[in-house]
Amino acid sequence: MPEAIEYERIGDIAVLAANNPPVNALGVDVRRGLLAGIERAEAEGARAVLIYGKGRTYFAGADIREFGKPPQDPWLPELCARIEASPLLVVSSIHGTALGGGLEVALATHYRVALPSARVGLPEVHLGILPGAGGTQRLPRVAGTEAALDMITTGRHVRADEALVLGVIDEVADGDPHEVGLNYTRELLESGASRRPVSEMPAPEQVNFDAVYDEVLRKGRGQISPATAVRAVQAACESESFDAGMKRERELFMDLMASDQRKGLIHAFFAERAVGKLPELQGVEPRMLHQIGVIGGGTMGAGIATAALLSGLPVVLLEMSPEAAHAAKGRIEANLSGAVKRGKLSQARYAEIMGSDLKLATGYGALSNVDLVIEAVFEDMDIKKQVFAKLDEICKPGAVLASNTSYLDINEIAAATKRPEDVIGLHFFSPAHVMKLLEVVVADKTAPNVVATGFALGHRLKKVTVRAGVCDGFIGNRILSTYRTCADHMILDGASPFQIDKALTDFGFAMGPFAVADLAGLDIGWAVRKRKRAEGLDPRARDSSYADKLCEAGHFGQKTGKGYYVYEAGKRGGVPNPEVLPLIEAERAEQGISPREFSDEEIVRRYMAAMVNEAAKVVGEGIARRPLDVDVTLLYGYGFPRYRGGPLKWADLQGLPGLLDDIRKWAAEDAYFWQPAPLLEQLVAEGRTFDDLNKEAS
Ligand code: CAA
Repeated sequence: MPEAIEYERIGDIAVLAANNPPVNALGVDVRRGLLAGIERAEAEGARAVLIYGKGRTYFAGADIREFGKPPQDPWLPELCARIEASPLLVVSSIHGTALGGGLEVALATHYRVALPSARVGLPEVHLGILPGAGGTQRLPRVAGTEAALDMITTGRHVRADEALVLGVIDEVADGDPHEVGLNYTRELLESGASRRPVSEMPAPEQVNFDAVYDEVLRKGRGQISPATAVRAVQAACESESFDAGMKRERELFMDLMASDQRKGLIHAFFAERAVGKLPELQGVEPRMLHQIGVIGGGTMGAGIATAALLSGLPVVLLEMSPEAAHAAKGRIEANLSGAVKRGKLSQARYAEIMGSDLKLATGYGALSNVDLVIEAVFEDMDIKKQVFAKLDEICKPGAVLASNTSYLDINEIAAATKRPEDVIGLHFFSPAHVMKLLEVVVADKTAPNVVATGFALGHRLKKVTVRAGVCDGFIGNRILSTYRTCADHMILDGASPFQIDKALTDFGFAMGPFAVADLAGLDIGWAVRKRKRAEGLDPRARDSSYADKLCEAGHFGQKTGKGYYVYEAGKRGGVPNPEVLPLIEAERAEQGISPREFSDEEIVRRYMAAMVNEAAKVVGEGIARRPLDVDVTLLYGYGFPRYRGGPLKWADLQGLPGLLDDIRKWAAEDAYFWQPAPLLEQLVAEGRTFDDLNKEAS
């Protein structure tokens, strides 16, 4: 096996090259190699040590896979202290990313040169921890307290030019990192530069840490790592010595390391990288995409077209009339102008897209040559079938025919064509050029290379892409519909939409379910309820019509200025709509229900249990391949708090037996809604967790 750290001697300089692909994470072999390299350089009488990374990057951080396992010597903080204490001049040459422990190693070296394309940062808070190898003590000493607080609490990646201004690096130079590092080290030696340990620099300046702490805690919606990191930086300013500050950093680090939030965030990190890796797609080549078609230019179709255009894919957008096509063009223009304003798109590229990449059409013939077409028309099975029958006639052989339906049966849609193997669901989330999630819905006859094409498109559009099977609502909307129903039941029984929204935002959701419904448009849920009633509800299912009454009065949420909340023009947040509670009270009276009190805790427990139970059914039925696919879907499409890892990670951390007990208890009051998922019962019986299933599948 190649050495994780390769040693090379060039004149007076000992060069330590990290060789631990893909990202030179600071695993135990790398740490041991660095320690051995420093010792050897000292023993051999070198004058300086240069540290750099082979391959695509300097050290991208500690090896996250080691977290939670017994620590192995040398620890990163000890290694950093040892590097810094070396009597030799120690220099880092940074390319790619110096992140987390990687930047901490760089800060322990005496000088830092970076390529212009390099990025540095301390993103540990996103993993639920804080920089634990001196980052909170050294960074404020070189960059000042304010800049350090900003970098550490946001975890943002800082470009080399900014890092230079902040003093995090000393020099920017272009070229090969080995050469750049050697040249810089030689210059330092020639100029007689002396060692420069950051720990010996004066303590950084004081700021109002309590105020920063409160602000960071508020912004984090319950996430504790950024706020805890503020206290560690405070220790850099207030401790009597560098070592005392380090001790405090370690204590706070260990607290976070033991937290459920750390477990949730690290689960999310690996889960979002695992969703795209499906065994059945290994070695399957996706079909080529040169141009795509989008049918329907409403909010969803225009969003999908925008996402494709931003990724460089030309789009033919089909609408029913010139007026509708014109309106669709306006929506795409507005989306792209937003991207220009945010600096994500150049004016020149904008002109090119609008000039030649986007083509508008009103006749199906325009789609005869596209490689993939996404239908985003009205959610009605008959209309969808007509569209697909037409596509079957028009599209070239091998074209992928995709539906953006959020609920409907892709098998039935595919059956409207003579080429069901080319048909797939590509379920985007609105606004499609912003939301990161894409569900690739695989029907019974979908060809593997069509599935691979769905994933390739998702990758190109920078989406987190999850495989789902066919059922009503696929992964996300099926689970949503269950926890939403649970919320509706709690309302009938005594809770208010406003209390439920508040309890769930306190839990960490970006928005509560009723504020979300207002944002999405109450007409959507109304249409689903009408469809389900028309299909025939199970006589045991509880139903309510108070929300229909809001819709009947023309209140569809934000777009009409009124729904569960009332929205003042120009304001995004709303205040509770006073018409809502009387409608609910009338409904309770009609159904003969006497309302009872709900604590916020009970609201969260029931809502989450309903979510987990349905999610377990979704996994058990194979709609989601693994529990982690559900977690990623809820994290990226439904505002689930990332620091809780996703519903099934949350369930594991709560303990599955307790959740199942609750579900069984509530089944006594509503046996139809609270039917325990067979998979949940099985896991509890076998003493296993959802994460065990993830591991078995990987
Ligand atoms: N440890 C272990 N594995 C890591 C890793 C890490 N720090 N960083 C990335 N990887 C793995 C990924 O899981 C992925 O593995 P697979 O190919 O098996 O899926 C592989 O490296 C490539 O990663 P990406 O797909 O993410 O590649 P990218 O080019 O899109 O991004 C990156 C590269 C910017 C470095 C990104 O991987 C990243 O942000 N990594 C995490 C960086 C980080 O948070 N570092 C801080 C670690 S915590 C720390 O250092 C604590 C401390 O203070 C002691």
